[in-house]
Amino acid sequence: MCGIVGYTGDKQASPILLDGLEKLEYRGYDSAGIAVENGGKLTVSKTKGRLALLREKTENGAAVQGVTGIGHTRWATHGKPSEENSHPHVSESGRVAIVHNGIIENYMELKQMLLNRGRSFVSETDTEVAAQLIDFYYEGDILQAVAKAVREFEGNYALGILCVDEPGKLIAVRNHAPLIVGYALDGNYFASDVMALLAHTRSVTYLADEEIAVLEKTQVHYYSSFLDPIEKKVERVEWDSAAADKGGYEHFMFKEIMEQPEVIRRTVLPLIRDGRAEMEQIISKAMVANMKRLFIVACGSSYHVGIIAKYNIEKLARIPVEVVLASEFRYCDPIVDENTLVILISQSGETTDTLEALREAKERGATTLGIVNVEGSSIAKAADLVLYTKAGPEIAVATTKAYSAQLALTVLIALYLAEQRGTIDQATYDEILGALLAVPEQMGTILEQKAYIQYLAYQHFHNDDIFFIGRNVDYALSLEGSLKLKEISYIHSEAYAAGELKHGTISLVEDGTLVIAIASCRRLTEKTLSNAMEVRARGAQVLALAAESVKEEVSHVADQVMTIPDTHDVLLPSLAILPLQLFAYYVALYRGCDIDKPRNLAKSVTVE
Ligand code: F6R
Repeated sequence: MCGIVGYTGDKQASPILLDGLEKLEYRGYDSAGIAVENGGKLTVSKTKGRLALLREKTENGAAVQGVTGIGHTRWATHGKPSEENSHPHVSESGRVAIVHNGIIENYMELKQMLLNRGRSFVSETDTEVAAQLIDFYYEGDILQAVAKAVREFEGNYALGILCVDEPGKLIAVRNHAPLIVGYALDGNYFASDVMALLAHTRSVTYLADEEIAVLEKTQVHYYSSFLDPIEKKVERVEWDSAAADKGGYEHFMFKEIMEQPEVIRRTVLPLIRDGRAEMEQIISKAMVANMKRLFIVACGSSYHVGIIAKYNIEKLARIPVEVVLASEFRYCDPIVDENTLVILISQSGETTDTLEALREAKERGATTLGIVNVEGSSIAKAADLVLYTKAGPEIAVATTKAYSAQLALTVLIALYLAEQRGTIDQATYDEILGALLAVPEQMGTILEQKAYIQYLAYQHFHNDDIFFIGRNVDYALSLEGSLKLKEISYIHSEAYAAGELKHGTISLVEDGTLVIAIASCRRLTEKTLSNAMEVRARGAQVLALAAESVKEEVSHVADQVMTIPDTHDVLLPSLAILPLQLFAYYVALYRGCDIDKPRNLAKSVTVE
C-alpha cells in the first residue's frame, strides 16, 4: 500500500526520493509525489499513475532542487486516485508539507473545526487535514505543532513532515503504521519500508507507536507524543540491497519461485540441532505442557499455510487447532485464555487485520507467536514470541517463497510440539525430519521440469474459469493454487473440497471446463480421482497433480498429470505448491499480465 520516504543531508533530495519510491513500487500505488525544501522555498511535484511519469515531470529529480524532502506513493483510500489527492499535501499557507500512510479516522471532525476557522481545502483527503492542523498549531516550532496535532488524531498513521520555516529538518511520526529511520554518512533518512533504505544504509531505528523523530543532516532525536526525549536502539538490517534485484530474471515472482530451495534451508537449518527441532527458547516446555488449544490466525496465502499447519499439528501433536481469518478473528469473540497459543502468520508483519487480531488475543490473555518474514515489523514487535521465516525480501505481490518458508516452519513446530507432548514415535519423527531436510533438493527437481508446466500453461491460458479440487491438505493447496492463478492472471477460479462438488458446484462444470485435481495425498488419491471422474463425465478437462508413485493410476483418469517426487505426507504440500505457482506464473505470462504488480493489489495490506 502507500509508501513514504524522507531525506535530509548533503545530497540533492529528489533523485534519492525517486529511487526510494521506486523500491516501494511493489507495495502497490496509483499516484506519486515529492516535496523538496530549498532555502525556505517549497517545490511540490505529483502525478497520477506510474512513478516513471513523476521522473519525467521532474527530469529525474533535476528540476526539483534542494537537500531536504519527502516523497510518497499513494494507494487511494480517501478520494479517487488523482493529482489533487496524491501526496505530499501542503497546508494553505504553504508552510507545512506532509506525506501520510494509514487513515486519520476523525478527520471530518478536525476538518469542520478548521473550516469554521476559515481554512479552505483543495483535496478530499484526511492527509490535507493533517497538514492544515499542524500549520494551525504552528507558532515557530514545528515539533511542538506536530505533537499537539497528533495528540488529536485518531486512527493508524505514519507521517513524514517538513516545514519551510525550519530548513533542513524533517519530522516522522508513527502510530500503528510502520516507519523506520536510517542513518548514513551523507545524511539521515526515513521510510515506511526498509527496502527504500537498503541502498543507503543498513543501520536503522524502528519507531514505535506514538513516537516522533526529528531528523537533521547530522543528528536524529526521538520524543514521545508528549515530547519527553527518548533513547532508541540502532539496529542492523540483515537483508542487503542485492536481494531486491531481479537477478537477471524477467520477473521477481519467477526469481522468488526459483529461490525456494535456498529459502527452506535458511529457514529450517538454524532451528535443527542434533536431529531435533529446537524451539525451547521460543515455545517453552511448560507452555506446551499446559497448551489446551492453538489458534492460527492470518490472511490470504498465510491463512492457507495455517490450514495445512492445522492438519499437520493435529495429526502429529494431537492438539486441537483452529484456523481463523484475521479479519474474522477480531469480531468472533474468540474463546482464548492463558493456556491458548495464538500463532499469527504474516510475511510482511504489517497486515492490519493480523496485527489487530494479535492485540485482541493478547488482551484476552493468550500467548502470541508471530511467524514473520520482516524483522522489526509491527507483528514481530508486538508478538510475545517470534519465529522468522528467512525468505529475504519478497517483492512480487503474489507470495511464493514466503509461503513455502512459512509452511516449512510450521512442520518444524508440529514436530516440536509432538515430541514435547509425547505423541510421536522416534521412527516417524526421524522420517519427517529427514523428509523436511530433503525438500530443497526435491524442489530443485520440480523446478527443473518447469518447461512441462509452461507447456501446460500454454494449452490452458485461454480458459475463463478454472476449478481446483482436492481433499485435506490438497484442499488447502487448491485454495492457494487458485488464489495464485486468479491474482496474477485475472482468470476466474474457485477452489473446492473435492467431496463438496456434488453439493452444488458441479452444476458449473460444462464441456471444456478445466478442473485441476490435486491428488498429492496418497491415502486420498483414489477418493479425489473419483471426483475427477465425475467432472470428466460432465465434459471437464482434468489436469491432475500427483506424487510420482501414483502417476500411472492418475493418468487413467486425468487428461494431463503434473508430478512431484514422493515424500512423507506431511511434506507433500511443500513440493506440490511449486507446480501450482509455476502454472499460475506461466498462464499470467501468456496472458500478458503485470505479474509482479497485479491490478488493485498491494503487497502489504495496512488497512482493514
Ligand atoms: C497472495 C498474498 C496475500 C497475502 C496476504 C497476507 O499471494 O500474498 O494473500 O498472503 O495479504 O499478507 P501477510 O502474510 O503479509 O500478512
